[in-house]
Amino acid sequence: MEAFKLSVKPFSPCFLLGFFALLAFLASFADAETHYHQFVVQQTPITRLCRTRNRITVNGQFPGPALEVRNGDSLVIRVINSAQYNITMHWHGIRQLRNPWADGPEYVTQCPIQPGGTYTYRFTIIDQEGTLWWHAHSRWLRATVYGALIIYPRLGSPYPFPTPKREFPILLGEWWDRNPMDVLRQAQFTGGPPNVSDAYTINGQPGDLYRCSSRETVRIPVDAKETILLRIINSALNQELFFAIANHQMTVVAIDALYTKPLTTRVIMIGPGQTTDVLLTADQTPARYYLAARAYQTAMNAAFDNTTTTAILEYKDASCKKGQPAPRPILPQLPAFNDTATATAFTTALRSPSRVNVPTNIDVSLFFTVGLGLNNCSRPNSPRCQGPNGTRFTASMNNVSFVFPRRTSLMQAYYQGIPGVFTTDFPPVPPVQFNYTGNVPRGLWQPSTGTKLYKLRYGSSVQLVLQDTSIVSTEDHPMHLHGYHFYVVGSGFGNFNPQTDPARFNLVDPPQRNTVGTTPGGWVAIRFIADNPGIWLMHCHLDAHIVLGLAMAFLVENGAGQLQSVVAPPVDLPRC
Ligand code: C2O
Repeated sequence: MEAFKLSVKPFSPCFLLGFFALLAFLASFADAETHYHQFVVQQTPITRLCRTRNRITVNGQFPGPALEVRNGDSLVIRVINSAQYNITMHWHGIRQLRNPWADGPEYVTQCPIQPGGTYTYRFTIIDQEGTLWWHAHSRWLRATVYGALIIYPRLGSPYPFPTPKREFPILLGEWWDRNPMDVLRQAQFTGGPPNVSDAYTINGQPGDLYRCSSRETVRIPVDAKETILLRIINSALNQELFFAIANHQMTVVAIDALYTKPLTTRVIMIGPGQTTDVLLTADQTPARYYLAARAYQTAMNAAFDNTTTTAILEYKDASCKKGQPAPRPILPQLPAFNDTATATAFTTALRSPSRVNVPTNIDVSLFFTVGLGLNNCSRPNSPRCQGPNGTRFTASMNNVSFVFPRRTSLMQAYYQGIPGVFTTDFPPVPPVQFNYTGNVPRGLWQPSTGTKLYKLRYGSSVQLVLQDTSIVSTEDHPMHLHGYHFYVVGSGFGNFNPQTDPARFNLVDPPQRNTVGTTPGGWVAIRFIADNPGIWLMHCHLDAHIVLGLAMAFLVENGAGQLQSVVAPPVDLPRC
């Protein structure tokens, strides 16, 4: 309204401009739609690797339904829990501005939806477009409870790259022959490492290289010469993956629903939680080619699933010559499992499309160590102490192993002023300085425990360095921050050096993400403005690690302005 007072003279060029701007503004809202969905969480028989297993799904689908919306649209998703486990849903990468109630991590922003219960998630997509996904955020249920969340640009606004002829979501997943909830329960009992998966999957299917799987291998049809868009999502529970397509290059155009400078590559590395959109031109001899993914494994001496999942890129005129069996597709070359050089070369080549507004006046400078640990046992090697040397595995950030509340959620405790649920003394720097990536003295392997949050003033500019440690093993931890995306301004091997490393930060066109891997045996630096009030979990997106306590949360205070406070909780927020 304010703007109208300025334009006293009608028909001045200024007025006309303002008028058209207003029209455009209104039009952009007139287009916005509200999408209503019902997600019934239920036990469903699924046959994989020759065996039929009961698994938890949404609406009987595995992977779950893809949500397709436009920037500016709203989603209303009624989740009905008809399964036997408590569950919550998380819309990974959606900023949920001022609305943590729709975010979903259990005991952080809500208590779980109990069997028989329902909860309706309501949120609006504000200035986001690209590939995101949704998943259960309760123990290991996301092994089978996940799906794509695709945000198209507003009606009439194009992609910042040539419009692809077709688009395909590629959800990379992990399949256990045993019930993943039992695998988790066993690991939590023994204190040892959880069993690794039996297969990786593409859109729920392991592919030709596994037993009893060939009939249902995912096929991606292309016409010769056309360009398609693959929306690749790593929804695997515990594994970073390399992904490549035989004989074809890919051009990365977006990561985590944020556009990038086009980057042409033969292989991508993608961590759990991350998404990568690539353009693929069918410019090879018409034939069938495998798309394949397998592990990028950074932890040393740890068991991992070393199998390979495939789907088939099928040129249309090459699919079936009458009477002849189709020739076996060519497999792409994937890097060695431990090829950190290739992984790092890829992730450090990513850039924002052009100059971006990186915060430069840092108000809060944080340094968090990230890594595993071992708890000593009074009875080493007893049934509950099956970790290395009779210990139990644990994990921490800045030496605090995060304990999730059990009786209420952090957001409810904060909003209702319930004392005793959390404290706000999460340390801004490690309580003890040590050679993080060197030979760490055994006395530093056992962290303390707590439900500690770090308080941020609304609007503060934050720099956070995530430093991997060599406790137990160095490792790439895919660190995800809820409610935000951030600039990845730098990374390196070894210990972060505050004197020399900041000089090499990219403050011009760093990529933006919502999930970033710590360099194994190194560090990564991110920056963001704390402009979303609420409690926002930050955690390792390897589900084997979050349950060990590799998490913390930020409490971002309300601002003074009218639209700078957390909205009121919905009336149907699940009871604790
Ligand atoms: Cu994709 Cu905390 O989650």
